[in-house]
Amino acid sequence: MQLDGKIALITGGGSGIGRATAVLFANHGAKLAIADINPAGGQETVEMVAEQGGEAFFVQTDVSQATQVENMVNEVVERYGRLDIAFNNAGIEGHPVRTVDVSETDFDQIMAVNVKGVWLCMKYQIPQMVALGGGTIVNASSVAGLVGTHSMPVYGASKHAVIGLTKSAALEYARKGIRINAICPSVIRTKMVERGFAEFPQFVEATKRINPMRRLGEPHEVAEAVLWLCSDAASFVNGTALAVDGGFTSQ
Ligand SMILES: NC(=O)c1ccc[n+]([C@@H]2O[C@H](COP(=O)([O-])OP(=O)(O)OC[C@H]3O[C@@H](n4cnc5c(N)ncnc54)[C@H](O)[C@@H]3O)[C@@H](O)[C@H]2O)c1
Repeated sequence: MQLDGKIALITGGGSGIGRATAVLFANHGAKLAIADINPAGGQETVEMVAEQGGEAFFVQTDVSQATQVENMVNEVVERYGRLDIAFNNAGIEGHPVRTVDVSETDFDQIMAVNVKGVWLCMKYQIPQMVALGGGTIVNASSVAGLVGTHSMPVYGASKHAVIGLTKSAALEYARKGIRINAICPSVIRTKMVERGFAEFPQFVEATKRINPMRRLGEPHEVAEAVLWLCSDAASFVNGTALAVDGGFTSQ
């Protein structure tokens, strides 16, 4: 599963799953572009990659803004000359509330980052990969994109939409040598989840109990699956939504 000589772009690379994937990719030979709305987190990831002997640069990007996404992709190509791999991972969760209590502002924000952001990323990444004659993209969905999630209706809708975008794009570009897949983690120990647990500590044990493996996932366990999907080892895997969930959605 080596990525020697490959150029990889990771959005939301300043924290959690994106950061773990950046470090793993670098350890497997890729050169990295780390995009994030948060410069402190993004720079920290760049330093972590450098400490391991890898190469990365940071590009501040809000993935919900078309001009910023276009600039992000252009910067990668200007810096490294190509784009082989993209992990469109940036996402937000919103506050846990039932369907009737979601505000219009929250609906629009979650959709703008999680759905429009993934679409914009692919819109500007795919032409670069077509020009190269191939590439691979992984989009961050969730188990919330496979089954219903209580009190996170818009997050769930956004992650279902990511799978829809992924499958359509995978069909459209299969003959151009581009593989496009989605990853569907269950609850993974990251800042996103720590925020939720800080507000609702009673959910920590409950979350472990409802998983067949009776624990949370770790960011590196998702990163390993993303690495596989992006590597030649997964050369015939296209348009899939891969659960990394300890068996949660098999129940
Ligand atoms: N942690 C989980 O349990 C879990 C489970 C399933 C899916 N996911 C998905 O995995 C992805 C990563 O989640 P995480 O748990 O690592 O979260 P995280 O909050 O630790 O990291 C998300 C990163 O995305 C960045 N980001 C947020 N909005 C952005 C924007 N508009 N533009 C660019 N960057 C932005 C944040 O600054 C942060 O660095 C998300 O899409 C999330 O929905 C997470």
